[in-house]
Amino acid sequence: MNFSRRGFLRSASVLAALTMTELQAIAAKHHIKSDGKTIEPDDEAYWKTVRQLFPLTKDWTYLNNGTFGPSPYPVIDAMRTSQMDADMYGNYGGYDNTPPKIAKFVGADHDEIALTHNVTEGINIACWGVPLKKGDEVIVTTHEHVGNALPWMNRQKVHGIVIKKYTPASTAHETLNRISSLINSNTRVIATPHLPCTQGQVLPVKEICQLAKDKGLYSLIDGAHGAGMMHLDLHDMGCDTYASCCHKWMLGPKGTGFLYVRKEFQDTLQAFYSGGGTDDGKWDLMTDPVTTKGYAPSAHRYFGGTQANGLFAAVNAAIDFIETIGQANIHNRIKYLGKYTQDRLLEFGDKVELLTPTEERSRCAVNGFRIKGVDYSKFYNTCAENKIRIRMVPENGINCLRVSTHIYNNTGEVDKLMDMVKKEV
Ligand SMILES: Cc1ncc(COP(=O)(O)O)c(C=O)c1O
Repeated sequence: MNFSRRGFLRSASVLAALTMTELQAIAAKHHIKSDGKTIEPDDEAYWKTVRQLFPLTKDWTYLNNGTFGPSPYPVIDAMRTSQMDADMYGNYGGYDNTPPKIAKFVGADHDEIALTHNVTEGINIACWGVPLKKGDEVIVTTHEHVGNALPWMNRQKVHGIVIKKYTPASTAHETLNRISSLINSNTRVIATPHLPCTQGQVLPVKEICQLAKDKGLYSLIDGAHGAGMMHLDLHDMGCDTYASCCHKWMLGPKGTGFLYVRKEFQDTLQAFYSGGGTDDGKWDLMTDPVTTKGYAPSAHRYFGGTQANGLFAAVNAAIDFIETIGQANIHNRIKYLGKYTQDRLLEFGDKVELLTPTEERSRCAVNGFRIKGVDYSKFYNTCAENKIRIRMVPENGINCLRVSTHIYNNTGEVDKLMDMVKKEV
């Protein structure tokens, strides 16, 4: 990856929490390029260097990547450079190479990716576009984020669909059983998160999609936490749609996302927003009747109009950044930190309840927990007063705390949180 050193340092001089000398030293060493080599998840020296590429303040302990991922300098720099390009030269567009780049990153084809602003937008395109009538049933979890709850509840209000719920189990096998037991002749959709926002367990999405296929159902995945956290091969996963964002685990700019729509599903998933780019370019108001020939022969049918060139240039840079380090290296590091967090929480015995499964395939970088006899919101506030940022989870009465760790974190930061827990138990 070319760090565009001049730009990197230029933006850093404005934004950095580091001194110029420190930044120059990092840029010169160029330490983080893995060149396809395996980086050990506990190679603290390497990951410490990676951390220095983030403007993230040292004053706070940021353990909330599940809400959004702070961007590293090269991403911020790409955003600024591209925006300046538009503002200085009037360059228009420039985001056409983003869908193919995202597609390659997630194991899809270039014509299967629609650009969005966030996961919520992608889920809404999928939710409203899927053909459903009154009485049709949609399966969700009891752990939904508002972004995968309200669209379906709104469709229930508008079209009379029926929402069925399951609670994710502590094993993938039991989770699949719970979903299977909800399927009947009215079921049309399984709309499940890849990882719920509440306690971050990795759900068996490939098997869920296979189950959907076997039963003739649509599989619409809320992939808010998939992209960037783990290697994705959406063709292999077999979902019909996968809504994700670039502002969490991809460490991209805030307000960027994408929706994958399987090629063969595009003529089933109705597009409702139309405008520049969503048709085949043959519309004509001067004929009588007016002419509209068809939709774009790609997922471009789901997004139209002007896009933020700076933001999508930065999405490209975020993918380059991930690939510079190596997606597998990143995954192993954050899974290592997630396991470290689990082990530390389990040390408290029955005084702390870990809500995330310990099953190897069901855990990764996000953990949910409760402290016995301690109000979750009070503990959250105590953490904030001590400059530790986690998330509280009031959704659906789950009332827990969530800790999520990315490559800029280290075990010492997890220990800081555990010191706070220790004071409460
Ligand atoms: C599981 C899940 N789904 C959907 C969303 C909504 O994402 P966005 O804010 O990008 O629309 C989130 C955000 O935290 C989430 O965790």
